[in-house]
Amino acid sequence: MASLKGLILAGGKGTRLRPITHTNAKQLVPVANKPVLFYGIEAIAAAGITEIGVIVSPETGPEIREVAGDGSRFGVHLEYIPQAEPLGLAHAVLTAEPFLGADPFVMYLGDNLLQGGITQLVQEFQEHSPDALILLTAVPDPENYGVAELADTTDGQPPRVVRLVEKPTQPASDLALVGVYMFTAAIHDAARALVPSARGELEITDAIQHLVDGGARVESHIVRGWWKDTGRLEDMLEANRLILDTLPGGVQGELVDSHLEGRVTVEAGALLEHSTVRGPAVIGAGATVRHCYVGPYTAIGDKCVIEHAELEHSILLSGSSVRNLDGRIESSLLGRNVTLRRSERQPRAYRFLVGDNSDIAMP
Ligand code: TTP
Repeated sequence: MASLKGLILAGGKGTRLRPITHTNAKQLVPVANKPVLFYGIEAIAAAGITEIGVIVSPETGPEIREVAGDGSRFGVHLEYIPQAEPLGLAHAVLTAEPFLGADPFVMYLGDNLLQGGITQLVQEFQEHSPDALILLTAVPDPENYGVAELADTTDGQPPRVVRLVEKPTQPASDLALVGVYMFTAAIHDAARALVPSARGELEITDAIQHLVDGGARVESHIVRGWWKDTGRLEDMLEANRLILDTLPGGVQGELVDSHLEGRVTVEAGALLEHSTVRGPAVIGAGATVRHCYVGPYTAIGDKCVIEHAELEHSILLSGSSVRNLDGRIESSLLGRNVTLRRSERQPRAYRFLVGDNSDIAMP
């Protein structure tokens, strides 16, 4: 078989994660203090694939390039492929065709996390040599996903896909498409044959259906571990929980009269004073935490400053500060360099400088 390549989709609009995505690529939002994109690159690298194309948008491409670099730190080569407009996942494949050529490839949505990695999937693809292999997982609400209908398999063969429907009103199964796919070069012609869907995109589900209709062998693989699409705040927080649960903890920073419970990672240069941190949690490099309670499932980014505050089950991006708050912050995502503080100014009132699409909930 020709050499396998990787294709990570890190363009898109990220409308569901506004306002964070007004200024940041959603694929760079950290999960347990590591950009979500890095988990995908690492999973592809762990499967032995070293040539990886990264689809980027004109708005966030430079930032992604700056953060992920040439890939050498992951032991891979990253080739950035600009997509002028986010016209759909199948459009992204066509945009990458000059890079992919005739090679088979794994396509990985850059805001997705897959617990078990993709090594087994890649092996299955190489052993069975289907025309395409899709990943599926059982979900309680299939009407919100692309859903697969599989053929009955009595011959011991892997289940073949007979139909894919995007957000069906009457789902034929509870098996939703996960954001990782394996394709042969046949997908390019399938994508070229498409017309835009009702939402104006070239849909990858339509391209795969086109393969099925043309008699191609499309196999499926059911994911055993968890899978998370981090497109919305709740999903981001859940991904953060799932990853923090896997970290061993460890202290590189400094603790002064502070108490850690459970697995807490304190990165280099972080300072904790008169504080309690209950893990799983991570305190980023160079952060300062004074007179605080930090509860489970919290990831505090680099250089954050938290004083006289309580927070849990939250993600703080780098450079943010929280000071002198009465209540506890929870289930929150703070962007970069956000300031939350109690002000002594009179009259006592809430004062905000808040960007578009922000969401603030107060007791
Ligand atoms: P989505 O989450 O489906 O789309 P989006 O990023 O536009 O987000 P939203 O729905 O909140 O507006 O995209 C999945 C992944 O694929 C994500 O990492 C962005 C990427 N993508 C592309 O690279 N090109 C595209 O044309 C599209 C639609 C998505």
